[in-house]
Order: sequence, then structure tokens, then C-alpha cells
Amino acid sequence: MAFRGLASWRVARRSSGLGARWMSTWWRSVEPAPKDPILGVTDAFLADPSPNKVNVGVGAYRDDNGKPVVLECVRKVERRIAGNLNMEYLPMGGSVKMVEETLKLAYGENAEFINDKRIAAVQSLSGTGACRLFADFQKRFRPDSQIYIPVPTWANHHNIWRDAEVPQRTFHYYHPESRGLDFAALMDDIKNAPNGSFFLLHACAHNPTGVDPSEEQWREISYQFKAKGHFAFFDMAYQGFASGDPERDAKSIRIFLDDGHLIGIAQSYAKNMGLYGQRVGCLSLLCEDEKQAVAVKSQLQQLARPMYSNPPVHGALIVSTILGDPELKKIWLKEVKVMADRIIGMRTALRENIEKLGSPLSWEHVTNQIGMFCYSGMTPEQVDRLRNEFHIYMTRNGRISMAGVTTGNVSYLANAIHEVTKSA
Ligand code: LMR
Repeated sequence: MAFRGLASWRVARRSSGLGARWMSTWWRSVEPAPKDPILGVTDAFLADPSPNKVNVGVGAYRDDNGKPVVLECVRKVERRIAGNLNMEYLPMGGSVKMVEETLKLAYGENAEFINDKRIAAVQSLSGTGACRLFADFQKRFRPDSQIYIPVPTWANHHNIWRDAEVPQRTFHYYHPESRGLDFAALMDDIKNAPNGSFFLLHACAHNPTGVDPSEEQWREISYQFKAKGHFAFFDMAYQGFASGDPERDAKSIRIFLDDGHLIGIAQSYAKNMGLYGQRVGCLSLLCEDEKQAVAVKSQLQQLARPMYSNPPVHGALIVSTILGDPELKKIWLKEVKVMADRIIGMRTALRENIEKLGSPLSWEHVTNQIGMFCYSGMTPEQVDRLRNEFHIYMTRNGRISMAGVTTGNVSYLANAIHEVTKSA
């Protein structure tokens, strides 16, 4: 009886079409989301059949043949762990060993804070995950706070704090005319922000501008933060990519630590270990004492648990193995330098190539800026022409991912840039 009842219900549903309609109605009004300004560029690049196409959009390192790179130190670890990897859950806070090694990179090999267990730290889903976890933590424990974000910044920073429902304010950073830092305006904004404000700072290799404060300027920023009681949250997605030396690239953080700040840091191994798709990073918050650190870590874990429960194991094992083995670490440091140096070489080549064509504009900033990106100063319309006429893909803010420039495409790129900018 029951079976016949079910069957006739199915027939009735099919003939009326009611069930199908009812099932799909609630999301019928959902509109397509706007394309991501960075990852959307990759989609467009992949869809372009042109043999001449060039992708200088997403910040992902390529070798001089334009190919993605798996670092030698990573390959060695992969061979070592092949077949020995157990697939158990990591704890909610991730790999303790990976986190410990990661903290040393940011806070210093022998940092007292690590020994004193004053840092609350968890493995995160790369830098994005670390920023998001922090934003959620900020919302939960300082619900009335805002975040000051530099202009410009990595587009996803806005999404992260928006989705965490933390109101955003901005502070001056880039000076379009000089294509450098607007230090005076930046300092004014720090001074004028209410005491105890939260600021998002890029620790090095600022994305998208490639413009970092000098050491002296970092000292002044740190001093002013102290005077105002501001909280600094550092996004350090490019440690090693500014100078080629991760230790040197941690200077901004070390200055803040020397001045006695309690800070937060988002770290990522996407770029400096080439572990883009492994999603391995770390969120840390320096606390006053161990007791506070234990409490903060437990809250970070509680935020992670309903979101993704615990982070993935594979990338964390790669990182902890490399950093825990002096030989492998040496290879890694060399490889970071090779990547940074190739980018620096491409900056010179791009600038020389554009200048050789007789460009009436100054291209000094191409070599003055550092890290993975060149903030070219090109307008969205010029960027559109590059895409439509030359099959060259970059973000519409004129950011060029120097990691996508090679000896094979630099003159094509320079020529196209000259064509769209020469009459500006
Ligand atoms: C970028 O800025 O291109 C990278 O950080 C990749 C990303 O996720 O946006």
C-alpha cells in the first residue's frame, strides 16, 4: 500500500511539475556574483585562445618559461614523505610543529615570546584564512571596533572584513604622482584615528603597489602607534619576496616588537614556498602572558571548528619538514632568493624595454617598487586595451604581476604598454 502510495505521488508530481518548481524556487532570484577582480583575470586569460596571450594578473610565481614552479626543497620533502603520510585529523589549531617554525620566521629564531609561550597561534588556510580568522576574532571580542585599511590594498582584504561584519575605514598610503609612499598623509591618518584603532599593515612587498615604508619610516609609524595605542595587524603574504631574504623582510615586525607592541600577524606559504594550492599559513597574536595566549588560542580554535574544523595536513607537513631540517631550509632560502632575483631582473628588463621605445613617460617606479607587483599607473581603460588588442591580462588597477614577466614576453609586454600609454 505504502509503495503504491509513493508511486502515485511521484506520477502526480511529474505530471504537475509542482515538485520540481517548489524545489528550485528559493534561489531563483539569486543573481550572478561579480567577477573577482584578481582571480577573474585568470578565468578570462584561460578562455582566450590567442597564442600570444600573457597573464600578469594573479600574483603567482612563474619561471622564465612562464611555467608554475614546484620548489626543489618541496620536491625533496614530497619524496621523503611519500607513503608515510598518515591522513589523521590535525588538531583544531593545526600542526604544532609547523606553527612553531612559522613563528620563528616572523618573530625571530630566538624570540623570547616563543620561549615564554606568549603567542597564541594556529595554522590557517593560508594568508586569506588567517586574515578572516582574525577578522572574526576581532568582531567577536571587539564588536564595536573598525579596521583601518590602506588605499589601495589587496582587493580581498575588503571582502574579508566585510564578510566578518567589521566596519572599514581607510588610511592614505600610496601617492599616485610620485608612485611612492604618501608618508605625510599616512602619518596624519594614524594620528587622527581614534586612540586604540585597529590597522591593517602589509609587513613587506605591499600588494598591489610594491611600495614599502623605509626602516626609518617604520620606526616612526611604530612610535606613533604606541602614542595612540593603536593595534597593528600585519599581513605578511610575501616574506622573502621583497629583498630575497625572509629575515630582512620581517624588519617591520621586529621594529614593532622592539617597541613593545602586542601585534597580530597573518603568514602564508603560498608565495615563498610556492604552496599556493596547499593553503598553509598561520595566524598569531602576541599576548601579555602565557595564560592569555592559551585563552586566545582556544577562542581561535573555537572559531575554526564550525567553519572548517581543522586545517589540512599535507602542506603543513611539507613546511614543518623543510623548516625543521637545516639542509632543506638552506635550499629553501636559496630558492626564495632565486625567485626574488628573477623578478628584480624582470623589472629592469621591462623598464629598459619601454624606455628604448622612446616612451615620453617616466618608468623609474618599475624598478623602485619591490616584491611581486608593479603598480604601473596605467588606467583601467589602458588595461582594457592591453587585453583587447594585445591579449595581455592584468588587474584593472594597473597592477602587473612581475612574476609573470619572462625574457620571452618582456619585449612584447613593453611594446604593448608603450602603445597604450604613449599618447596619455
Ligand atoms: C594576488 O594578489 O594576486 C594573490 O594574492 C592571489 C589572490 O588570492 O588574490
